[in-house]
Amino acid sequence: MKQFLNIAGDPTASPMDNIPPVAEFRDAMRHLASGVSLVTTMGADGRRQGMLATAVSSVTADPPTILVCVNRTATMHSALIEGRNFCVNFLGHAHLELSRRFSSSEARDSRFDADRWTTLSTGAPVLEGALSALDCRLESAVEVGSHSVVFGKVMEIRVAPTSVDKPLLYYDRQYGAFVGV
Ligand SMILES: Cc1cc2nc3c(=O)[nH]c(=O)nc-3n(C[C@H](O)[C@H](O)[C@H](O)COP(=O)(O)O)c2cc1C
Repeated sequence: MKQFLNIAGDPTASPMDNIPPVAEFRDAMRHLASGVSLVTTMGADGRRQGMLATAVSSVTADPPTILVCVNRTATMHSALIEGRNFCVNFLGHAHLELSRRFSSSEARDSRFDADRWTTLSTGAPVLEGALSALDCRLESAVEVGSHSVVFGKVMEIRVAPTSVDKPLLYYDRQYGAFVGV
């Protein structure tokens, strides 16, 4: 028999709970090394938007589903929710400068000026040269604190040969490279 689990909120939680301070949480998360991705979307107004993200995860392979945590203050947030499309582009070493552009508000208007971009099924911008690109239709979104956790059904995939580049990583507030052990 199939079982369904649907948990909304924690009935045992109290505002008096002695939860760790934000700074301590951030300090702990420094030690989680992550790949970096560009999350992009095509707005209903035809404008491309995107940002750098490490909060990206596979959810399930069948049906292929991923999630991204997007701050609701990010400029792409409303375009993503309204347009219901996004692409997650995994970055390599060659994309270091690009990653800085997509995480700096000063560079917001020039994010798509350089590099080669294309589209697949959903219309979201796909970076040519990304290690992998997962083109998604937004399935659902859940608000958690400052962020929306956005779930996407993967509609189309592009995968570069592993020889093309190595993944760009982020760890301890700096970019780095993967070293096999
Ligand atoms: C390494 C790194 C990882 C980031 N990961 C995320 C993330 O997972 N989710 C998010 O909402 N913002 C993330 N950010 C912040 C956004 O990239 C940044 O705020 C960006 O400028 C937002 O776009 P906007 O300037 O158009 O609002 C990250 C920034 C850096 C440097």
